[in-house]
Amino acid sequence: MAVISDHCPDIDVTLVDKDKIKIEAWNSEDLSKLPIFEPGLKGVVRRNRGKNLFFSCEIEEAIKEADMIFISVNTPTKIKGLGAGYASDLKWVESSARLVAEYSEGHTIVVEKSTVPVRTAELIQEILGNTKKEIHTKNKKTYSVISSPEFLAEGTAIKDLENPDRVLIGGSDKIAVNLLKEIYSRWISTDKILLTNVWSSELSKLIANAFLAQRVSSINSISALCESTGADIHEVVKAIGSDKRIGEKFLSPGPGFGGSCFKKDILNLVYLCRHYKLEETASYWEQVLFINDWQKQRISSLIIEKFFGTVSNKKILILGFAFKCNTNDTRESPSIRITKDLIENGAKLFINDPKVKKKQIEKELNIKEFELDELSLGSWSFASNIENYSEDIDAIIILTEWPEYLAINWEKISSKMRRPAWIFDTRNIIAEKIVNKLDINYWQIGKTR
Ligand code: UGA
Repeated sequence: MAVISDHCPDIDVTLVDKDKIKIEAWNSEDLSKLPIFEPGLKGVVRRNRGKNLFFSCEIEEAIKEADMIFISVNTPTKIKGLGAGYASDLKWVESSARLVAEYSEGHTIVVEKSTVPVRTAELIQEILGNTKKEIHTKNKKTYSVISSPEFLAEGTAIKDLENPDRVLIGGSDKIAVNLLKEIYSRWISTDKILLTNVWSSELSKLIANAFLAQRVSSINSISALCESTGADIHEVVKAIGSDKRIGEKFLSPGPGFGGSCFKKDILNLVYLCRHYKLEETASYWEQVLFINDWQKQRISSLIIEKFFGTVSNKKILILGFAFKCNTNDTRESPSIRITKDLIENGAKLFINDPKVKKKQIEKELNIKEFELDELSLGSWSFASNIENYSEDIDAIIILTEWPEYLAINWEKISSKMRRPAWIFDTRNIIAEKIVNKLDINYWQIGKTR
């Protein structure tokens, strides 16, 4: 939305949320206090806030004034009730639609931006009431519901929005579709704006994420095979990625995919397939999640095995808690599962992340800093400075590929570690020539040493 305000000075963009603290943070004078960290975001907010970009809790007023409303709420996996564990919880979409139905005036275009199961537009339309024939009657509320899913990735959000591979608009109301197309076309070439029916648009969003996640699970499954056979995962990626039909993107092996979307969207896809009695399709996609869980589990197990079956009382420095670099988001981060496993096995962890705060780690692990795990006596504490925490440690585990970690003086740090010492590099960020100089045990994903 902020990027729309940047490119369309004649359009007022108002972002509303009932969470006062969040809105206060978005309005904060100090731009480092914005609720999310995203490269380039501060600049966009600085340029437009107060001009044509507003953050507000006045939801009713904003709905009344709006010609176009983007529903961009969370659609987490349901934890209770029908479809629990798989289906997306649409309660926020539904309550947003109810607010729009109550407070909107005249004709309103409602854009489904949240990732939703196929046919959610139908639900929104039903809540709003289809009163299209009264479109020109004064004071009558009328609506057009269209879909325009978001394909940005965290960490590169502004770049992705500025220069997307494509934009999707799904809907049957040509006027509404063209109005949104006109907005996007201010900075995106029209051949990248794809028009589809509303269901194709909703489904394409789920499928794009499922295909991306599938590539990560595929390469992660092969990383294990490389470790067993002596093949090198990077050579394999290069060899297969050079085939233009396969392509080289999204083939970096790692500790498993995280983030708020891949797992949720695949679970949703699986639920949808089962709903339509397509069991084979459902279990095919479920395997992508199975491999992802297995990868995390496999990494914690192999770390424990390298210490001859016990990490009890071992001091381990964890580098990275965010699910990937350039974000402070920790949702579904592979670091959660791996660090929990190690704590449960008695390890004393020092966790570092350049952007994730101590409180956030505490929330994700559900274990307070310094608190001892009752059964294993494992614990964790926050390591703000890597060098200070490297004295006498037994292992370093790289879990997020932060650029900051590339600048680490590995020779210096590894010399302070207690022998036998290990570095586990699940993102393959340390260059081969540096590793060769280190007098240390080194494990890298997808390679044998
Ligand atoms: C993903 C999609 O890439 C976006 O297109 C989509 O809009 C977004 O979900 C969404 O639905 O909101 P995001 O979750 O921000 O974006 O992050 P990705 O860059 O896709 O990475 C997801 C996970 O896969 C990360 O944990 C990352 O480390 C991992 N990954 C990615 C790998 O392990 N290897 C790769 O080669 C690529």
